[in-house]
Amino acid sequence: MRKLNLKGKHNSSAILIGRGILNQAGELCRAELSGRKLPSAICVVTDSNVAELYLKAVLEQLAIFEVPVYSHVIPAGEEFKNLDTVSKIYEDLSANRFGRDDMIVALGGGVTGDIAGFTAATYMRGIRHLVQIPTTLLAQVDSSVGGKTGVDLPLGKNLVGAFRQPDVVLIDPAVLDSLPEHIFTGGMAEVIKYGCIWDEEILDLAKKENGSAVDSKQEKEKLESLIARCVAIKIRVVEEDETEEGLRRILNFGHTIGHGLEKLADFTDLSHGEAVAMGMIAAAQMGESAGITEEGCYDRLKTLLQSYGLPTKLPYPVADIYQAMMADKKIQGGSIHFIFIENFGKTDTRKLSVEELRQMMKVLGD
Ligand SMILES: NC(=O)c1ccc[n+]([C@@H]2O[C@H](COP(=O)([O-])OP(=O)(O)OC[C@H]3O[C@@H](n4cnc5c(N)ncnc54)[C@H](O)[C@@H]3O)[C@@H](O)[C@H]2O)c1
Ligand SMILES: [Zn+2]
Repeated sequence: MRKLNLKGKHNSSAILIGRGILNQAGELCRAELSGRKLPSAICVVTDSNVAELYLKAVLEQLAIFEVPVYSHVIPAGEEFKNLDTVSKIYEDLSANRFGRDDMIVALGGGVTGDIAGFTAATYMRGIRHLVQIPTTLLAQVDSSVGGKTGVDLPLGKNLVGAFRQPDVVLIDPAVLDSLPEHIFTGGMAEVIKYGCIWDEEILDLAKKENGSAVDSKQEKEKLESLIARCVAIKIRVVEEDETEEGLRRILNFGHTIGHGLEKLADFTDLSHGEAVAMGMIAAAQMGESAGITEEGCYDRLKTLLQSYGLPTKLPYPVADIYQAMMADKKIQGGSIHFIFIENFGKTDTRKLSVEELRQMMKVLGD
């Protein structure tokens, strides 16, 4: 098992990574909380798909705390990442007399993690203990680490939120075995993103050897070390810029255009990862055309993304994508920090006016 640590301004996260550690979840969490006031109740928040697969095992594990352990199952899907869902959890917590010293465990993908994390950050002005057990590749390499939590409003994604570092993040790559292929693949887009913005070697590690990505023992070990490398990068970035005023922006590589695509697809026809894949390709193409990105990056990135079956061709007219992007909450005062890569492992952030952005997007076609 690997153990990493993220030092946040207000609290730190112990990040544990290892195949099979879900079966020691209780013991590991209790060890991490030793010396601190222990919870007198625990609520596991999970979604309807993950509940069927892993809830029983996690509840059994948490029995080690010898306190009441409840579960709250939310319906699976981004469309439920809203304040209504959070409100139902608040009601459940208060009905069970949850207090500030208690513990919330988020068991699931990025949607569950964002909802449960936001609940933990806000119920009674913040609950003492938050544990994240991410069960998608995206959640393991990205959303469970770094303390961003939030929900969507009808007007847009993640418009309400809070920063709350989890106390423990328990990453067990074995749970990815049950992921539908396209959800796993979507997470690979985020892995490849880390290769683009920080660590070129990730791109070599992510290269598909033969056929399926995780069918041999060697491949499984490779996946675990790949996850750990991505998490280590996220930690470095978040520790330097927890609240996204500078460096943390580089994590948005591929996301500015990606978010526009997700919006056009009503957050249903395209997964986040698919949208990010196309967003990264578009940023590479725009960068090469403007002389910001070294030539050849676009081709290499495209080959790698396609090897995972990720889309690289924009499915909507560029003018529509641009329009959809204008709703991005990161566009402030008519400009946006757009992330390019200079080469693999090195970013170049440019503050672009929306008009400059529109002009640069012309290379993407009509
Ligand atoms: N907070 C952050 O920093 C951050 C960063 C990136 C993304 N996000 C958010 O994460 C969300 C996307 O996360 P996601 O892609 O994990 O989606 P998700 O949570 O909806 O999970 C995808 C699907 O996989 C199912 N699933 C989860 N784990 C499974 C498993 N082990 N086996 C079988 N099925 C499983 C879920 O039930 C769901 O149907 C978005 O809402 C996005 O905004 C947040
Ligand atoms: Zn993302």
